[in-house]
Order: sequence, then structure tokens, then C-alpha cells
Amino acid sequence: LGLTPFTEALAVPGILDMRGGGLAELTMRNAQHRFHPGLGPTSTLSYQHASLPMTYLGPVIVAQKGQPFTLRVHNELGPHPLAFAVDDGLVPPGSADRTAPRASLHLHGGNTRSDSDGGPTDTFLPGQSYDYHYDNHQDAAGLWYHDHALGITRLNVYAGLASGYLLRDAPGSGIDTGDGVHLPASPFEVPLIIQDRVFAEDGSFAYPPNPDLDRPWSPEFFGDVATVNGTAWPTLDVARGKYRFRVYNGSNARFYLLRFSHGGESLPFEQIGTDGGLLDAPVRFTRLVLGPGERADIVVDFSLLAAGSAVVLANSARSPFPDGPVAVRRGGMPLPQIMQFRVTSAPGFTAPIPVQLRPTPMTRLAHVAAGLEDLTVRPMALVEVVDEDDVPITALLNNRHFADPYPTVVAKDSLELWELVNTTGDAHPIHLHFVQFQVLDRQRLHVDRYIEATDFADPETGLVVPGRGAAVSPEPFLIGRPSPPPERGWKDTIVAMPGEVTRILVPFGAGAAGGAPLAMGSSFTGPYVWHCHILEHEDNDMMRPYVIEA
Ligand code: C2O
Ligand code: CU
Repeated sequence: LGLTPFTEALAVPGILDMRGGGLAELTMRNAQHRFHPGLGPTSTLSYQHASLPMTYLGPVIVAQKGQPFTLRVHNELGPHPLAFAVDDGLVPPGSADRTAPRASLHLHGGNTRSDSDGGPTDTFLPGQSYDYHYDNHQDAAGLWYHDHALGITRLNVYAGLASGYLLRDAPGSGIDTGDGVHLPASPFEVPLIIQDRVFAEDGSFAYPPNPDLDRPWSPEFFGDVATVNGTAWPTLDVARGKYRFRVYNGSNARFYLLRFSHGGESLPFEQIGTDGGLLDAPVRFTRLVLGPGERADIVVDFSLLAAGSAVVLANSARSPFPDGPVAVRRGGMPLPQIMQFRVTSAPGFTAPIPVQLRPTPMTRLAHVAAGLEDLTVRPMALVEVVDEDDVPITALLNNRHFADPYPTVVAKDSLELWELVNTTGDAHPIHLHFVQFQVLDRQRLHVDRYIEATDFADPETGLVVPGRGAAVSPEPFLIGRPSPPPERGWKDTIVAMPGEVTRILVPFGAGAAGGAPLAMGSSFTGPYVWHCHILEHEDNDMMRPYVIEA
């Protein structure tokens, strides 16, 4: 299409301020949006508020810790802009998603009661509404909300049903209050919702058909256009000071390995928070890996750069991550540039970032676990299923389909150790609803021996067979020592690398361990889900129910 990058200003979504509690209403509607002047208007879906009409995505909701509110969501969706990509093999029988899309709003990372969680089967139809209640008891964090309708999540989110949700500390109770004293606040705090897209000649969304199978579903969607907050390759003019970027990977399947490139050098930045909130202290990095669904809270200092300098947010991740082909001609789809920053001479935020970000340090779940006698350990296997021609047909968790019986049952307020055993060749961002967890460590695995031992494979063909076997402990098949987690802090989505066991410590409720709360937030019971956040995987069965019981 030959779009010129960096010609358009970054748009910042409107703010829906719910810090005072109460009730807000969002309406899901079809709209027309311009991603770039070189593109015709695109038919989209969006979350609209009466005073903040959006044409793509939704307003960024700002909430306050301890201040509950209700979000009333109306479904007024009409014909789906991606109707051609609806796959009848993935949606519940009788669904009419091409003309009357089901919808469900999930607060990703939210410590949400089950009936407000907006799970895959909690959908409602055009003409219907649903009330979501958010208690906001957890710590300040950069959460996000997006559609979750079973079998069409990848299409609803692609079309625009997503946005940010910034949970703040109450005034006087922390540093993330949004007052601009300790941390940069608007206009120096900017959400960056990164999504890759493909556009047809006329500007409409494209979703390439499956190259190997006669069906619309593909194992991964990769776009050739980078969009941020709904603009293709935007530019942000920045003052000479510090910026707090709330970076969202809102893409269907693409991972990013990001750096701030300034004349070939990588500008260092400080990470101050992860999915679930602030770190104990800032950590300096030059690169950032984000899988689909993950967020990072970072501070970049532009004050040392001369006015007129340009900084490019560059990406060097391969697709599929981490070992996909490098070049387009080899089937790869690199997306080397995301957006640009242009330094102006305007004065900016120059106060130092606090060295202590949390009033009290985070609970170290590794220490809690070490003191427990009856820690439940669950091997959880990530499995890709291919046909006789080695074509991927589905991805599964523990070799089970979403609709299979026997959800994982966990006890309210318990701490569990989940061993994410990735038997596949790709990285999968694994997301658990309701909880914020911590990574214990990562270890390499003899994948072939593990698959053999778990009886996943058909003895004659060697192909992974759905429904055969159950996940067994990876322990006898580990290679080498555990490596400490590269990521610290509270996580709700974690990248499980291929051929590795990623161990996470998951508190299923606020509970108490030795008098101290096990985790932030509240304890609830009821059904939830966990899944891969590559939306094509999630829609084709890499998702399982789990239940918290009293
Ligand atoms: Cu962001 Cu169940 O998803
Ligand atoms: Cu996956």
C-alpha cells in the first residue's frame, strides 16, 4: 500500500474517569475509522461513550483503588467487518456472528468476581446489555479490557473492541495517583496500544485466509502495518523530559522485542511496572519483550536529547516468536518500526523517579511457597496438534479441548505451583483470569522424551493425538539448572518459551500467609478460564476452564 510512516500524530484515547465510582455506560457499535490518510476509511467496531465517541478501540478507563463502579455495556453491533473470517468450526452452533456478533467484555488482569469476569461463554447479543461490577481492590496497575466471545475473540479484538484500564492508587496511599508529583502524568503519561494489521486496497481490514487448510482460521495472524492507538506508524512530539509509557501488546499473535533507537543507539529506559502493578524499584533496560496480552510500565527520559532528535520505537522480534523466518520472502513478516518520537524544545517532567515504588515490598511468593508443607504442584502441558502433512490444526492445554469436562479445581485462598510445560516450537503467552502471579523460574526440557512419557503421541505415526494421555511431571525430563525469571513483579500473562518449563506461583485469592496477605485484591469463588493469549490459539481451543471452590 506504500503508506508513509511517521506522518500522523499519535492519538490518545479519551479518558473515562471512574475514580469517583458510580455507573458508566459503553455502547459497542460499528464505526468508520481512518488509520492513515493514505488509506480509505476502515469499517471497525468500537466501545463508545456518549461524551467520547470513538471510532476504533474504546476510551481508557481510569479507576481508583478501593472505589468500585459498574460498567453497563450495550451491544448494538451490526454486520461484522471481518465476517469473511468467521469460522463456523469455532463458534457455538446457531451463532449468527457475521450479522449479529456475540460479545463479552473481559477486564484483563482484573481481580474480578466470576459473574463480572466476561468469560468466553458469558456473551450477549445485539439488543442486549450487561452490567459488570469492578471492586478495584487490587493494587494500581495497567489493566486492559477487551472482547472475549468464544471463537471470535480474535476478530472482535482485531476490529477494535479493546482499550486500556488504568487503576490508580487512592490519593495519599501510594505514588501512582496520577497527580504528576512522583510519576509523569498526562500529557507525559501516554498509553501505547500496539497492534499489527493488514489492510485491503480500499482501506478495509484484511485477514489472510489459511494458507494450508480450507478454512478461515489460521494458526497466527501477522500484520504488515504497525498501529498504535489506532494510527498507522504515528509520531509523538515529546517535551525534553521523562515520559511514562503504558505499553500494551494488543496484537493477535505478534510478539515484540522493542527498543528506543536513536541514531543506531538504544536509549535506556526504566521499567517501573509489569502486568499487575509497580515493581519494588525501577529496573534499567534497553530492550523489552512483550507477548500478546502483556503490558509494561516504563519511563523514558528524552531530556538529554537535542531538540529535533528523532527516536524510533523499533522491533526485532521474529514471527512466530522466537524462531520464525527473518525475511518476508521466507514466509516471515518482520515489522521493524512501530512509531516515532520527535524531541521538541518544550520543558517536560524532570523530577527523579522514586527509587522505592511501593510503600511496602511485594510479597515474595517463593518464600511463602518454601514455608508450605502442602503446595499443590500442577504440570500443565502446552500442545500443538498437526495433521499428517505437519499442518497445525489446533493447539491445546493438557491435550484437552475447551469444551471437554473436568476443569481444574483450585481452593480459594490457596497458593499453587503451575508448571507450564511447552512441548511446542513456539512461544505462548499464557494468561490466567482473576489472579496476579509470580514467576519462580524457567528450565529446559527434553521435549521428545516428555511427549513420549505423557503418551500424547500416536505410537504408529508419532503425531500428537488429542485426548490421549495427561500431563505428567516434567521433572525427570529437565535439562540443566533452573534459570531465575528475567521478569519480576506481578504478572497475569507469561511467555512460556518453546522447550521450556516455566514455573509460576499462583495465589487463588487474597488469602493470608503468616499474617500477611498472599496477594492483592479479594477472594472470590466460581468459574474462570486460563488460555494462550495468541488470539488464534485461544479461539481454536488453547483455553481451559478452571474453578475456584470455597
Ligand atoms: Cu486478555 Cu482471557 O484475556
Ligand atoms: Cu499459543
